[in-house]
Amino acid sequence: MLIQKLLTSIALLLAGVDAQTLAPKKYHTLPLGTVRSAGWLQQQLDIQTRGLAGQQINFYPFASNTDWTGGTAPYSSLEEAGSYWFNAMVPNAVLTNDTFLLSKVRSLLEYVLDHQEAGGWLGPEVGTSKPRYLWGRYPFFFGAIGLTEAFPEYTPRVVDALYRFTGLANTMLRSGGNANQTGVEPWTATRWEDYVMTLQWLFDNHPRSGTNQTLLIDTMQRLKYTGVPWEKVFATANFPTIAVDRMPNPFPVLTWHGVNMAEGLKALPSTYRFTKNQTDLNVASSSWDLLFRYHGRPSGIYNADEYLAGLEATRGSELCIVVEAMFSGSYLYQVIGDLKYADRVERITYNALPATLTAVRPAAEPDRSEELNPSPWAGTVIGPYSNVFGLEPNYPCCTVNFGQGYPKFISNSFLTTPDLASLLQIYLGPFSTKATLTGGNSVTANVDTLYPFSDTLTTTITATRAFTWVVGGTIAINGGLARALSPSNGLQSVAAGAGTTTFVLNLPAVITVENRVRGSVAIHRGPLHYALDITRRTSTIKQNAQQPLAKDLQLDPTSSWQYAIDPSTVKFVAKSVTSLPSPVYDSGLPPFSITVSACLISWGTAGDTWTAPVPQSPVACTGARTTLTLTPYGATRLRISEFPVMRV
Ligand SMILES: *[C@@H]1O[C@H](CO)[C@@H](O)[C@H](O)[C@H]1NC(C)=O
Ligand SMILES: *[C@@H]1O[C@H](CO)[C@@H](O)[C@H](O)[C@H]1NC(C)=O
Ligand SMILES: *[C@@H]1O[C@H](CO)[C@@H](O)[C@H](O)[C@H]1NC(C)=O
Ligand SMILES: *[C@@H]1O[C@H](CO)[C@@H](O)[C@H](O)[C@H]1NC(C)=O
Repeated sequence: MLIQKLLTSIALLLAGVDAQTLAPKKYHTLPLGTVRSAGWLQQQLDIQTRGLAGQQINFYPFASNTDWTGGTAPYSSLEEAGSYWFNAMVPNAVLTNDTFLLSKVRSLLEYVLDHQEAGGWLGPEVGTSKPRYLWGRYPFFFGAIGLTEAFPEYTPRVVDALYRFTGLANTMLRSGGNANQTGVEPWTATRWEDYVMTLQWLFDNHPRSGTNQTLLIDTMQRLKYTGVPWEKVFATANFPTIAVDRMPNPFPVLTWHGVNMAEGLKALPSTYRFTKNQTDLNVASSSWDLLFRYHGRPSGIYNADEYLAGLEATRGSELCIVVEAMFSGSYLYQVIGDLKYADRVERITYNALPATLTAVRPAAEPDRSEELNPSPWAGTVIGPYSNVFGLEPNYPCCTVNFGQGYPKFISNSFLTTPDLASLLQIYLGPFSTKATLTGGNSVTANVDTLYPFSDTLTTTITATRAFTWVVGGTIAINGGLARALSPSNGLQSVAAGAGTTTFVLNLPAVITVENRVRGSVAIHRGPLHYALDITRRTSTIKQNAQQPLAKDLQLDPTSSWQYAIDPSTVKFVAKSVTSLPSPVYDSGLPPFSITVSACLISWGTAGDTWTAPVPQSPVACTGARTTLTLTPYGATRLRISEFPVMRV
C-alpha cells in the first residue's frame, strides 16, 4: 500500500500533469487499520463499540431509518444520519475488527455502490421529491476511502463511483443560479472542504490522465467558489472576539455555527493545496489561534453551544464540535506541520471528549455492560435540554457523529514523511503500528504506556532496516541514560537501527495555571485539565423503549461547588499503578489528582445551567479554608473547573 503510493507519486511527477498539480501535504497518513490503539485507549474503543456508538444501528431510528429501501437495508439515507454514522463506524469497525460493525459498514458501502444512478448520483434519498444536495454525501466519502484502505478490493469500485459522481457534481455546480440545481444549500455551502479533500485523495492516489484530472481541480475550485469564503470569515479583521449571540454576521449566518466552523477549519489547508496561496495557510494558522483565544475553554475545545459563544464557563460546546475539531486539527497538522495543532488535538481528546460522554460501568449484563451517551451542552441558544446526558438531547446529529472521535484520533496518531523514510508519532498514548517504509523496510512500533495517566512511555521498534523515528518529550534509548530532548520543530528524532530499538520517553510535567475571565483560574498538568468532581444525584428522565440502556440522565449536585481556590497551593498527587480501570474516565478512577487550598464563597445560581457566571476575583471567603481534590476533567460529569481566586 505504502509502496504503491510512492510509485504513484513518482509517476505523477514524471507525467507532470500539465501545470495542474496540488501542493503536497507535509506528512502522510497511514492506511486505516495500520495504526491501532492499545491499553486503556483500546478499552475505550471497545466500550463505544459495545455501547451507544456501535449498537445504535439496532434500535435508533435516526441511524437505522429504513424509509428509502422499503426495509431491505437497515440504513438511513445519505442526507445526514447514515453518512455521519458511516464516517464514524468505518474506522471504529476496522480498529476493533468487530464482526457486526464490519458487516454493517461493508453492506452499506456495497448497497450505495450497487445503487449508483446512471447519471452518477450516489445515495438514495428519503423520499424522491427532495432536491439533491451534495453535502450529505461528504462524510460517506470519508468512510468509503477508509474502507478502500482496509479492504483494497473495494478500491476500483469506489474510485470509479467517485469519478462518476464528480462528473455529475461538476455539472450541478456549473449550472448556477437555482440553489436546488447546484446542490448547494446553506449547509453544503459551509462544508465544501470535505469534498475537496475527497477529490484530493483521488488526485493523490488514483490519478487519471487528461480531462479527468482537470475535472478534479475544476470541481475543487467550483466547490470553493460556490461555498462560503472561509478565508474571509476566518480573517483577523472579521473574526468575532465575543459571543456572537447579538452580533450581525457579515457572512451567511451558518459560518459562525460551531460545527460548521469545526469542519471549516479544514477549508483553508485544503484550499491551499490547489491555490498554493500562502495567505490561505497564514489565515488557517491565525484563525486557529483567534478561535481559541476568544472562545477557547481549558478542556481544549471552544465554546459554541450552537454558535460561537465567547469565554464564559457557563456556555458550552456541542459534542459534534469536539470530534470535528479533533479531525480538523489532525489534518491541519498534516498539511502545515505546526505542532500547535497536534498539541491541541491531544488536549481535546484527553479532556473535552471524555467529558462530553458518560461512562456507566458494569451493570447487570456483562456483555453489554457499558454505555456511552453523548451530551451536547447548550446554553441559551438551543435550550436547556441540551445540558442532559442522553440519547439525542435537542438534536440527533451528535448521536450518529460522535463515534468518529477516538477512532480517527488513533488512525491519525502516526504519520510518515512523504519520502516514507521516517515514521512520526504525533499523539502520545498507547498505540501500535505496523508500516512499510521506503525500500520495503517493514517496521513495527509499540508504545506501552498509561499516558496521559502516566508520564512515561516505553516504545519498542523493530525494523528490517534503519530509519528515523520522530516524536515529541526526555528520552533514554536502548537502556541508556535519560537525556534531554533536542527537538527540532518540536519533534525529536531517534535513529532506529535494523532490529529492535527500545526507548523510554519521560515527560514530567509541571502544574500550570491558566488565567480565565474576571481573574478566575483553570488548573492543568501535562495534557490533563483538572476539575472539582461535584457529587451528584442521578435520575433518569427518559429511557429508550427498545434499548433501556439508552437513558437521558439528569444530574443534580449534592455537594457544595461554590469554591474559590488559592492557586499557589496546588500539589500533584499520583497513585502508583500498573494498570487502569476500564473505563478510566469516571469519578475517582484516574490515578492522578491535584490538591488545592479552597474556601466557600458566595456564588449564586442562574437558570438552567445552575451556576451564575464566575464572580470577579479575588473573592472573600465565607467559610474556613479546606483542601479540595481536583481530578482529571474528563472523569467528572458535574464539575467546576474555572475557579475564582480567594482573597488571602
Ligand atoms: C479480524 O478478525 C478476523 C476473523 O474474524 C481475523 O481473521 C483477522 O485476522 C482479524 N484481523 C485483525 C487485524 O485482527
Ligand atoms: C428548492 O426545492 C424546494 C422543494 O422542492 C422548493 O420548496 C424551493 O423553493 C426550491 N428552491 C429554489 C431556490 O428553487
Ligand atoms: C475519465 O476516465 C474514464 C476511465 O479512465 C474514462 O472512461 C472517461 O472517458 C474519462 N472522462 C473524461 C472526461 O476524460
Ligand atoms: C491570496 O489570498 C488572498 C486572501 O484571500 C487574496 O487577497 C490574494 O489575492 C490571493 N493571492 C493570489 C495570488 O491569488
